[in-house]
Amino acid sequence: MDRRDFLRTTAALASVSVAGSAVTAYAQSAVNKDSDAFWKTIIDQYKVTDEFINLNAGHWGIMSEPVRKAFNEHTAFINAYSSHYVGHGRSANPSARNYNVERMEIIDMLAAKLGVQSDELVFTRGATESMQLLISGYNKINPGDTVLYADAAYYSMAAEMRHLEVYRGANVVQLTMPDPVDFQGSIDLFEQGIKDNPGTKLILLTHMANRTGVIIPVKEITAMARSYGADVIVDMAHSWGQLDYDFVDQGVDFVGFNLHKWIGAPLGTGLMYIKKSRMLDIDTKSSKGAPGNDDINNRTQTGTMNLAAVMAVRDALNFVDAIGIKHIDNRFRALRHEWTNEFIDDDRVDILSPEDERMHCGLTSFRINAHDDARALGRTLLNDYAINTAAIPEYNGIRVAPGLYSSKEDMRALAAAIKDIANKLG
Ligand SMILES: Cc1ncc(COP(=O)(O)O)c(C=O)c1O
Repeated sequence: MDRRDFLRTTAALASVSVAGSAVTAYAQSAVNKDSDAFWKTIIDQYKVTDEFINLNAGHWGIMSEPVRKAFNEHTAFINAYSSHYVGHGRSANPSARNYNVERMEIIDMLAAKLGVQSDELVFTRGATESMQLLISGYNKINPGDTVLYADAAYYSMAAEMRHLEVYRGANVVQLTMPDPVDFQGSIDLFEQGIKDNPGTKLILLTHMANRTGVIIPVKEITAMARSYGADVIVDMAHSWGQLDYDFVDQGVDFVGFNLHKWIGAPLGTGLMYIKKSRMLDIDTKSSKGAPGNDDINNRTQTGTMNLAAVMAVRDALNFVDAIGIKHIDNRFRALRHEWTNEFIDDDRVDILSPEDERMHCGLTSFRINAHDDARALGRTLLNDYAINTAAIPEYNGIRVAPGLYSSKEDMRALAAAIKDIANKLG
């Protein structure tokens, strides 16, 4: 690429950040960011299909247009510059753009957002990878030690916990999350698990359960576990970016996130957090680095990542930060209540996350008691009502996960569809 092309690329990048500034302008004005008028301006920045209403943002998020355009530009840039951008260019010219410099700038942004140190974070390709590295890398388990998880855990994390029996000789115990569950009940579940298994070493917590949307009190459970000498690894795949909470206040040491669900970054972006003082408790990946090193980068081995996707994390953070997590959290609750309120006094329909506001946000599931086939119900919602959701057969339920692009009309359409189906069942 010659210099003129480079300037064209840079100009294109500049135009992308201008596109993103629509939301920034709002951020700086006195507009009510919890109003439907404000949210209409956000919805307008998403391009979603009109073939159906997409209420499955829990699988992965949709990028806003400013983020998608930035991602395309980053892809074009990397395609043009290739390995020049990962260091070859910089060795010849110190002012050349460099991936590792820009990656660390984005890590700094993420660290500031979480309130942690930059050397406690590393990019991965998703929450699964982060969590697998943490669970399999946790090296304080001796043969016979107990490790606990609840059946609300995401299936691949549960599998990784079960694998500790093979890999570390652990006694693996699965607990059953009560349904419905309340705040204290979720703490008691894990405390009883520890009491039943004295000397429990490790507990897996899922901050927001993917099947029901139930939020458990990570801070309280972590403090309780610590008082018994047990460590906690936390899956925050659904909470960060959806729910307004203080990460540092949770007091957690090992956490897996993704950035492609609720932060709205491109697919294939995740993050792993290890508290610096606990770094040695997670193995390096094979023998990366000198023995005993505490570099978090040596605890992953992703190979070549989608660099453009990582670069677009900056754009995604700018987009959601301009709205503010408080308002995103408020919005998700408003979208939830728009449909769940219709069923508070309707015995035919169960809402699967508690009304206790500490235990839910936007993602919430339901079941129609007279319907016994969740997959068929999901198909009916899609085929007859053009609403895309996720079937949750384990709870005979349907998961409803709106995104920032969802409107209250979408949620009312869902409520009407559920009522219609329940009426037909009699
Ligand atoms: C609770 C939970 N953890 C982890 C994951 C996996 O996330 P990723 O796609 O980033 O690997 C999911 C995906 O749905 C999830 O629901």
